[in-house]
Amino acid sequence: MTAKGHVSLHGIHKTFGTFEALKGIDLDIQPVEFFALLGPSGSGKTTTLRILAGLEAPDDGRIMIDGNDVTGTQPGERDVAMVFQNYALYPHMTLAANIGFPLKMDGVAKNKIPDLVRQAAARVKIDHLLHRRPGQLSGGQQQRCALARAIVRQPRLFLLDEPLSNLDAQLRLETRVELKKLQRSLDVTTVYVTHDQEEAMTIADRMAVFLDGDIVQVGTPDEVFNRPLSVHVAAFIGSPPMNLFAGQLEQGAVKVGDYEIKLPKSPDHAAGDVTVGVRPSHIRLSDHGLPARLYLSENLGESMLLNFLVDDQLVKVRLPEVRRFAENETTALSFEPEHIHLFDQKTGLRIGS
Ligand SMILES: Nc1ncnc2c1ncn2[C@@H]1O[C@H](COP(=O)(O)OP(=O)(O)OP(=O)(O)O)[C@@H](O)[C@H]1O
Ligand SMILES: [Mg+2]
Repeated sequence: MTAKGHVSLHGIHKTFGTFEALKGIDLDIQPVEFFALLGPSGSGKTTTLRILAGLEAPDDGRIMIDGNDVTGTQPGERDVAMVFQNYALYPHMTLAANIGFPLKMDGVAKNKIPDLVRQAAARVKIDHLLHRRPGQLSGGQQQRCALARAIVRQPRLFLLDEPLSNLDAQLRLETRVELKKLQRSLDVTTVYVTHDQEEAMTIADRMAVFLDGDIVQVGTPDEVFNRPLSVHVAAFIGSPPMNLFAGQLEQGAVKVGDYEIKLPKSPDHAAGDVTVGVRPSHIRLSDHGLPARLYLSENLGESMLLNFLVDDQLVKVRLPEVRRFAENETTALSFEPEHIHLFDQKTGLRIGS
């Protein structure tokens, strides 16, 4: 038997009035994959999830689940469970009734429901709260209840829309780990919407980066982070994202202002204007490179984030240790040549490997 939960989208368009929310996206998600939809606010993530769930119909395109075209089917026919950002729990029902609701709708025998509910609640550690109503729970507990309601039956597909966004930072980190463990043990294809890239990077097997209603890159967190395919992805991924400089590609080297960096491998690309990308952790304070003046240093406890001015451009440098800096201190910034990213200045597309 082939694993369940293969999902694909083909040429999905969606407009709201005159606004084009999705511009023809394609996506292929493998069975049991933990797949993140990552992108800034308004980029089309929730719309994609709602289209997958059947809550929204695309104007154009097809949705396939396990080889079946489900484009025209109702949510109930798709065998998916969705967790909404606002949990959408029934306030007048106990947790037990909330969690058991999908089973009741599925026509599961009444005497089987309490055990299934208890098991699902135990997996997210709220089995001691089953008699309470949502209003008597903390945000984190409500969020777990919504998860329990999703996992109480084994759907083909979990759709999670920013399920951790209402939790405080600490609880968010804890729940993230649990969610990943839970998904592994359940073996259900999961599509997870977030605008938090750290969350996507840590939790997902693969991700799609959304920008303005388009998918601009699909890959493992590693691929997206280490090999952004365009300057747009480069400018979005990483916290803070990579520094981008106007530069000139020459034979075996790239120049930013008067600073020339020999490239370890000459890219197969015509000489000319390029955008040079360097992550804050790949810049060194040095005695050669770009002349820079310290604008502000931020102490992050175990490391430092230094904001330099190079001419008028703010450049971020991450320092692995903490030390003192004088205000307005001047230095030079040099780039690690093997960690330089190049993009065509006109098309914004990545140059070389
Ligand atoms: N029902 C609707 N009517 C009109 N416009 C809508 C509707 N739903 C979504 N949109 C618009 O479509 C775009 C994409 O919305 P969507 O909710 O998919 O974004 P998102 O990526 O989930 O953003 P966020 O991170 O803020 O949740 C937005 O500009 C939004 O305003
Ligand atoms: Mg959304």
